[in-house]
Amino acid sequence: MVGILGAGRAGTAFARTLLRAGIEVDICSTRSPKALRHHLKIYAPGAHPVEQDVIAQRTRHSGPGIVVLAVPQEELDEVDPDVAA
Ligand SMILES: NC(=O)c1ccc[n+]([C@@H]2O[C@H](COP(=O)([O-])OP(=O)(O)OC[C@H]3O[C@@H](n4cnc5c(N)ncnc54)[C@H](OP(=O)(O)O)[C@@H]3O)[C@@H](O)[C@H]2O)c1
Repeated sequence: MVGILGAGRAGTAFARTLLRAGIEVDICSTRSPKALRHHLKIYAPGAHPVEQDVIAQRTRHSGPGIVVLAVPQEELDEVDPDVAA
């Protein structure tokens, strides 16, 4: 499993590519998992929307512990480093 922080253009495209390769994907953004569901159903079906605070932990438990940052550079200061610890 790979985690992706950011469900915009880049994060969603990356999720779709990983899923096509048979790799499970958790994805989160500033929106709640519930709010992401419709977007993912259309653009990355099969990706699991999760809360930010569990993405690193879930990724570590079921894979190599990779979290991809797919947020705009100007937003990076807003990202809690623990999210991708
Ligand atoms: N677009 C491309 O073709 C492309 C190609 C290569 C690389 N990139 C790089 O990928 C990065 C993202 O670009 P993008 O085009 O995907 O941007 P985007 O479409 O604006 O999406 C940004 C995503 O980041 C989320 N986000 C912003 N601040 C956040 C925070 N503090 N915590 C969690 N999530 C946060 C947004 O959340 P919400 O969904 O809640 O708004 C959104 O899902 C940039 O660094 C860009 O340079 C983009």
